[in-house]
Amino acid sequence: MISEEFHPAAAGFPEPFRLLIRESVESTNDEARQLGEVGAADGLIVLALRQTLGRGRRGAAWFSPSGEALAFSILLRPSAPKSLWPRLALAAGLAVAEALESLGLEAGIKWPNDVWIGQRKVAGILVEAGADFAVLGIGLNVNVTEFPKEVSEIATSLQLAGGHLFSRAEVLGEVIRHFSRRRCQIEQDFSEVIAAVELRCVLRGKRVSLITASGPKIGVVVGIAPTGELLLQTDQGLERLLQADEVRILG
Ligand code: BTN
Repeated sequence: MISEEFHPAAAGFPEPFRLLIRESVESTNDEARQLGEVGAADGLIVLALRQTLGRGRRGAAWFSPSGEALAFSILLRPSAPKSLWPRLALAAGLAVAEALESLGLEAGIKWPNDVWIGQRKVAGILVEAGADFAVLGIGLNVNVTEFPKEVSEIATSLQLAGGHLFSRAEVLGEVIRHFSRRRCQIEQDFSEVIAAVELRCVLRGKRVSLITASGPKIGVVVGIAPTGELLLQTDQGLERLLQADEVRILG
């Protein structure tokens, strides 16, 4: 059985993480949300062997070929105030980057939600909040070697970067291990998350264009604020951006 691939890794997950494997779902975020709505406890990981309608931020489609990619969502019931839950995205991005590093790859974080290897995206994160829970969706290109035309210039995988196949179970185990630590830091010790994200920030010092809720912006990224906002030096002065879409490096 394919799902046996994941059982040894799941046995070693730190508390309270546990794995629910689904053969085929439209989106693991939707599955996790439904389980959250009927009271499933914190730490449930819903992993799809086949995800048919995965979605990314801004409603974009997320490509995750079965047997090659990892597509999973973690149901979380954070003890931190809900206003701090958006920080889970940075904590998760950091955990993914650290997991890749523990597997011998050099990873960068493209604020707010992407993990890069070199100049290409290897993982995406989608955090969605329910009434009293959050769903953290992670899509990771593990052994993907061919991408749809739309993303073929900007996507990569662990296999393409590392030159060999990776065990998806081991990758999942590493992500969970690192996330288990980083999730606890979104309230008291968020400065530790920020410091580690800054070290890996691929936008630092770069001139970028972004789409924000208050319109498009252009500026130079000077860092990440202690609270997680992107610090952008624009012609109008220093701006703190809470969220942004379409962050593009110029030049
Ligand atoms: C992005 O980069 O835009 C975020 C991509 C998030 C994709 C993951 S795959 C598992 C989970 N289920 C979904 O439908 N989306 C997330």
